[in-house]
Parts: sequence; structure tokens; C-alpha cells
Amino acid sequence: MYFGYSCAAVLFAVAVFAGNGAWAQTAGTPPWMNTALTPDQRADLVQAQMTREEELTLVHGWFGKDEQINPNSPPPPDEIRKALPSSAGYIPGIPRLGIPAQLETDASLGVANGRHMRLGDQATALPASLLTASSFNPALAYEVGAVLGQETRDKGFNVLLNGGVDLARDPRNGRNFEYAGEDPLLAGTIVGETIRGAQDRHIISTAKHYAVNDQEIGRDWLSANLDEKAMRESDLLAFEIAIERGDPGSIMCAYNRVGGVYSCENDFLLNKVLKGDWKFPGYVMSDWGGVHSTANAANNGLDQESAWVFDREDFFGEALNKALADGSVSEARFHDMVHRILRSMFAKGLFDHPLKPKPIDVKKGAEVAQRAAEEGIVLLKNDGNLLPLGAKARRIAVIGGHADVGVLSGGGSSQVIPIGNNPATDEILVGGAVSGGGRIPMETMVYDPPSPLSTIKAEARGAVVKFDDGGDIASAVALARASDIAVVFVQQWQREGIDSPDISLPGNQDALVEAVAAANPHTIVVLETGNPVAMPWLDKAGAVLEAWYPGQRGAHAIARILFGKVNPSGRLPITFPQSESQLPRPVIPGKDLIQPSNRLTPTETLFDVDYNIEGADVGYKWFAAKNLKPLFPFGYGLSYTTFGYSGLAAAATPLSVSFDVTNTGKRKGKATAQVYATPPGASVRLVAFQKVELKPGETRHMTLTLDPRLLASFDTAAQLWRVAAGDYALGLGGSSADIGATATLHLEESTIKP
Ligand code: BGC
Repeated sequence: MYFGYSCAAVLFAVAVFAGNGAWAQTAGTPPWMNTALTPDQRADLVQAQMTREEELTLVHGWFGKDEQINPNSPPPPDEIRKALPSSAGYIPGIPRLGIPAQLETDASLGVANGRHMRLGDQATALPASLLTASSFNPALAYEVGAVLGQETRDKGFNVLLNGGVDLARDPRNGRNFEYAGEDPLLAGTIVGETIRGAQDRHIISTAKHYAVNDQEIGRDWLSANLDEKAMRESDLLAFEIAIERGDPGSIMCAYNRVGGVYSCENDFLLNKVLKGDWKFPGYVMSDWGGVHSTANAANNGLDQESAWVFDREDFFGEALNKALADGSVSEARFHDMVHRILRSMFAKGLFDHPLKPKPIDVKKGAEVAQRAAEEGIVLLKNDGNLLPLGAKARRIAVIGGHADVGVLSGGGSSQVIPIGNNPATDEILVGGAVSGGGRIPMETMVYDPPSPLSTIKAEARGAVVKFDDGGDIASAVALARASDIAVVFVQQWQREGIDSPDISLPGNQDALVEAVAAANPHTIVVLETGNPVAMPWLDKAGAVLEAWYPGQRGAHAIARILFGKVNPSGRLPITFPQSESQLPRPVIPGKDLIQPSNRLTPTETLFDVDYNIEGADVGYKWFAAKNLKPLFPFGYGLSYTTFGYSGLAAAATPLSVSFDVTNTGKRKGKATAQVYATPPGASVRLVAFQKVELKPGETRHMTLTLDPRLLASFDTAAQLWRVAAGDYALGLGGSSADIGATATLHLEESTIKP
């Protein structure tokens, strides 16, 4: 499908001010196509030509599929129906003025195609965002973003619903795999770089879901209650950093309420913080079904209603026209809504780089998918250097987790059907039937091929590799006993709309690992999970690898780590608790509500989630404040070599730290130096990190600058960040719980405007 336009269709001959002191004469192209002008100037020029009806078109989105989601909604008009791409959303263009249509698609596991996939659709199944975060590698995140952006274009879309940066406040949140962990600096940096990479391919990316959309149960009804100071220092800071680094064209407001007010009509979040303090020049789009009013939403900062059939009413259609007529939405505000959308379309290249769909670069996608998986898989345990596997592993048992099929991925709107699969015929989908018309529902478990069994066989040249599906524990134990090595695959499926009731592996998987590990001390457990899980069998397992949802090259990455072709370097972006009792909310709020909720039902189940319990102390900060020992701490991950951290020194001007990292082992490997600070009277926080590859014996001296906001606290009365005078304890190490060098930094009081 091609929704570009030809400038030749729009003939203009005008003189325009080029913004550089010269008048540029252009002929045959409309003045807003003059790239010497700023995006704001170009938006103004085209907007001046638009009718009211055309302006309304831009703020009102359609579901990218001819389907009646809302029983109250009429089917789309014919001209819209014909143009609908098979995707998440669609905003018609205005061919008369050469304004391209906005064609929206999801991301988090690659460019999504699960929701409305047509057979034969191709997209690279990248590792889940949480895995990209566990690479602790911003440059890699940029490359992942670039693949996302290029495939988005190639597949005929120009708006990518990427950039999930909600903090992992709860390890049961069904969408944590779409986010980047629990720390604002790490999440903001990784997500910001993914957005930057995607947008450098001339598309718009979002950052989402703004804000505090930190659990799925009751996401349409709950109120996330968190004081401003704590919010600014945690969830909002993650967005702030991601927006600064990535400069997204759009922000998607969330389903949930924040402080009792729906996110998509929340004056504080949208007008005060986003557009006021942060001076965000782009537009706010709603999440699908996140709009609850017309004038209230528009006046409080929402610029575009997405896929309106998901909302209870058509709020930004005729209702907005009426609100303009009766003055409840001002002309100035409406002008601003349209201006912001056009401005982002110009700023991100939608006008200057029209879509020219073509087959995606399958090779490039696979190459980046593999590199990302290899950098994000985390080695959690490796007793007696069981890994990497050597020549002594002659008989290998591969057990459980559909390891003969593929690696697990997450579910929901971000779902990607991997390359090379025909969902109508392949056995790649388990746990759900293929729906009619060759389309598959996003509630289906998807396994990305190839199978770990095949990649392990390929790496274990000459060894005998046998598979047992783990369904019958006795048979798995018999195979493990007759083998030198047992590799047990266990998994936890997470999907949008549903949270886990607890942090245990589902089914009989704990019993399976327990029994196999008892039968064979050389048991390696490979986790494919979207969240931290409890490991009651941990002391019996020889080695444990957290592979998250590693995507279509995940099986290669796992095998290459098991056999030592790749030295693991992932670090945990999220704390692994020992049990739910260690969490701020041992029972997840709304646990008994029906999941997923149906936002179109007339009765709302409003409830509160008290995030003030932990406030800004999310994840490892909570564990530190409460003196709790987690199962595995934030930032943790082993390597096949060892590293030493030393010589930590800090300077106030410029605000920076410097130190040495040494590879103290015998293999080349990547260290992730992490610097934590404890300001006077406040809690510990990550203030800098840097991944570096070192040869055995090599030492690298590093200097990293610090963002003063990370050392500050937010003063709500003065509405600014305040760095307190005093001594700041600094710690350098390989994780939040492994500090190898310390230093003290003395700072005078200072303030920073948000
Ligand atoms: C999700 C968004 C997504 C949208 C469009 C919603 O259900 O919350 O993350 O972008 O659907 O698919």
C-alpha cells in the first residue's frame, strides 16, 4: 500500500522567507515544502490553507482495520475503509495539500504484525525491549531502533508506537517486557536511543504510556497515586530523559488515571509538565480507548484521539466540532492541536521522505536481532564454571519449554509473527487456535524459530543431543540421568492486558527443574520470561541463564552463550525478589478483577493503587531502603571472565566521575561499570553506567559526566530540582550490590529548572 503523495500534484509558485535572511523563490512546490524553513513555519504555512474539516481530520484517528470494535460505532465511511492499512491506526492524509496519511504500527518485539497480520507479512522478531535494556548498551539500543524505523518505513508505515518507558514498579506487570526496567536513567537512556534510531529513518516515534501505567490489571480504571516529588524523581524522570535523548514526535498518554484524573485529560501531566516544563513541541496521542471526554481532554492537553472506535464515544469527531462552535474548546487551542501534529510530521520527515514500501532487509534485521540477544541475555549463576560447555559434554539432554519449536515471545498489540512462518499451517503457535481468515489473535502464544534444540545440536558438534518435552517429569529425569548435561528450558508467558498473580513459574516447571537438578548436578536452567521469577530450586541448579523473550535469533544467542562463542554480558534491568512478600504491594492491587478489563462496559470499577508506599524508591532503591536481600540485584550479571573496578574519583566541576575497569580474568569480555550515589539523607540511585569490552589483563580509564538531576531531589514548592549541599557517597561496581570502590563527592547547593 502506498500512501505517499506527489508534490507535482500540488502546484504553487510563491516566494517565501527562508529564515536565513534570504527570500527563496520556489516554483511548482508548495511553500511548506521549503526545507530551509523550520518545522513550525512549515506547519503554519500549510495549516493556513486548511479548511475546518481538514483540520478535524488530523486530530481524529481510525482503527487500522475494518472491524466494529465498539458496538455503538458505525462502520467507517467507504473512503476510509478502502484506505485502511492493516495496522494499529490510521489518520487520513489530505491529498489536496500533500499532507500524507499517518499510518501507525506498534513495536516492542519488532514491528508488530500480530494484530492484523496478513499471511506472508514479514517483520524481524527482535528481542523484547526489556532485553535491550539488559544490554545496558545505548549504542545497541540505537541500532535496534534503526531496524525498527527502517522496517516501519519499508512496511509502509510512518508512525511507530514505540518507546515504552513506564517503570517496572511491579514484577507481575504483564507489559514489563515492553519496557526498559526499573531505573529512570537506564530506562530513559535505552528508550531514548531506540526512539532516536527509529526516527532517524524519517518516521515519527512515540514515547508511551504517559504516565505511571505500571500494571495491567484494571488499567482502564485504576488511579496511580503518587506524590509529585516522587513522580518527578521516578516515572516522570524516565520520560524526561527518554524525551531529551530521543526527541519523539509524539507522546502516547496512558489508559490509567493519575492522581484520580485520566492520563489523557490530565492537565498536570500534559499541560504543566510535558508541554510546560519540558517544552515538548510535539503532539499527544491517546492510547487506544484512553479518551473519556471532548472539551476536557482537548483543553487539558490531548491533541489527537487515536482509533476512536476504542473509545466509548467519538470524542474528537463531530463532538469536537460542536465544542468549537459553542466555545468550550477555543480556536487557539484547536489551532495548537493541529499545529503540533503537522509540526512533528515536518520535523520527523514525513513530508520530505514519502513512504516507498519495499521488502524489509531480512539479513540486517537478523544480524541486529542476534547481536542484541547476545548482549542482553543475563548469566545469573555459573557454579564451578559449568559454562561454557566444553568437549566433555558428549550427551546433552534438552528438556521442556517447547525447546524443539522456538523461543517464547510476549503477547498483545506488540506481537510479531516471526519471519518464515505461516501461522495458518505451522505448529509455531501453541495455546490458542488460529482464527479465521488467516489472521491470528494477539492472545496466542508465539514461539520464534529456530528451536534451541536445533541450535544446540549445531553448536555441540558430535555430541548426542536428546529432547524431552518435560510433560512427564519421570521421563525427563531418566533422560537427565543418562546425560552429561541437562539444559532445562522454563518459561513464563506475559501479555498486554493481564498481570501475573505471583512471581512463580506457571505449571509444574519448578517441580521439573527441582527433579532434573536432583538427578543431574550439571543442570543448566534457561529462563524465557517477561519478568523476574522466583527460583525455589536455585541452589540445586548448576547454571542459570535469563534469556527474556530473545526474538528470532534468540536460539542462536542462547546456544552461542552455552558453548562459549559469546561471553555473556547482560545485566538485570529489574530486581529479582525472593518472594512477593518483599514487594511494596505483596498482593497486586485489583487481583480479583477480571482480566483483561473491558473498557467499553458501562460500569467502571474505579480503584486506587498506592505508589506512595515506595514513592521514588522503585526496585533496588526499595530493597536498599528496607534492607532486603533480593534473589538477584539490579545491575547484576555474570561473565566468563572477571572484572575489577578501582580508582573512583569524583569532581564537582564538571560534574563527573572517573575510574578504572580491569579485565582480571582469562577471556575477552564486556564489563558494565555502574556508579551509584547516595545523596545526604536520600536513597541510593544509579548515576552513570558504561559498557566496555576488555581483553584479558586490559585496564580502561573512564570519565563519565553526571546529570545533576540524578543527585537532586525535586522541590515541589519551588518547582525545581535542588542539589543539597553536603557529602555524596559514591560507589562503583558491577551491580547495585557489588560495589568495588567508593569515593565521596562534596557539593554546594544548586538548583536546576525542570
Ligand atoms: C496499547 C498501546 C498500543 C495500542 C495500539 C493499546 O492497547 O496499550 O501500547 O500502541 O494499543 O495497538
